[in-house]
Amino acid sequence: MGEPISLSRFILEEQRKYKNAVGDFSLILEQIAFAAKIISREVNKAGLVNILGSIDSTNKSGDKQQKLDVYSNEQMIKALDPTGKVCAMASEEIEDMLPVSDKSLEGKYAVVFDPLDGSSNIDVNVSIGTIFGIYKRVEDSDCKKSLLQAGKNLVCAGYVIYGSSTMFVYTTGQGVNGFTLDPSVGEFLLSHPNIKIPQYGKIYSINESNYFRWAKGIQEYVNFIKQHPDRQYTLRWIGSLVADFHRNLLKGGVFLYPEDSKNKNGKLRLIYEANPMAFIIENAGGMAVDGKQRILDIQPEELHQRVPLIIGSKYEVELYMEYREKYG
Ligand code: AHG
Ligand code: MN
Ligand code: MN
Repeated sequence: MGEPISLSRFILEEQRKYKNAVGDFSLILEQIAFAAKIISREVNKAGLVNILGSIDSTNKSGDKQQKLDVYSNEQMIKALDPTGKVCAMASEEIEDMLPVSDKSLEGKYAVVFDPLDGSSNIDVNVSIGTIFGIYKRVEDSDCKKSLLQAGKNLVCAGYVIYGSSTMFVYTTGQGVNGFTLDPSVGEFLLSHPNIKIPQYGKIYSINESNYFRWAKGIQEYVNFIKQHPDRQYTLRWIGSLVADFHRNLLKGGVFLYPEDSKNKNGKLRLIYEANPMAFIIENAGGMAVDGKQRILDIQPEELHQRVPLIIGSKYEVELYMEYREKYG
């Protein structure tokens, strides 16, 4: 085994490739990784809360024990706000954008995140995650426009999965790299260099309880996948986008949360979920669409807008587009 490469060292070496880089961006990334470690620690002991009897208790500063998604949201903000490198943040947990507390700092980046994805899985010990995206600030006074950029303008996107181990996966547009948290040293270590998604897979991930609410094209697509002439597909649905995505990224296949008669634009959010994951999948050689167009081309109109998301290996995503074209 070679010597381990820590996330910090990797970030530094990446930074050195850019002559003009002053380290602002690296600091943001380091701080997100720091927040991830704190969240990871909290996620891992969540199951002990009842046993240790601290759910209704107050801590030393008098705060009530927090729900994990609120807690994660706070950790992300606390990690990013003092860097001075961010002009604003937008979080799935907060209605409006979040300006940084010290406006004089004029950070050059805007950060978006889903602090805890897969909330319904928290209480049952199933993998959950954190998703983030980083944009360069564009010329605007309050930074709102910088947060509402199309996904193709992302300069970095990543996620953290709190699974059987904690992993940090990210891309700056030149390959996707995965790091596994070694709890004994408290560092993320490079474990999955240059991740590429296979061109096709054997997994499809969709909440099939929505079958009778789908358009014909989606139903026909899933029917075809089940009787595919060339290979036997299998269905996997965890119910945490991060976990379903991570598995499919490594093994190949497709994740779908399309629109249905109840959720007209699907369920997932363009800014906090679809765009970062789409940026990652494209950098790993896969595709992400809403059924009609590339996710990364969509111009967001508001922070919390939802979008149908079909994301994964090229073959399965292209096939989906063909079925929608043919059957509607
Ligand atoms: P969040 O916990 O951030 O609100 O997101 C949950 C999302 C996503 O992680 C998952 O893929 C999807 O909801 C599951 O939806 P269903 O409950 O409809 O299966
Ligand atoms: Mn989510
Ligand atoms: Mn969430």
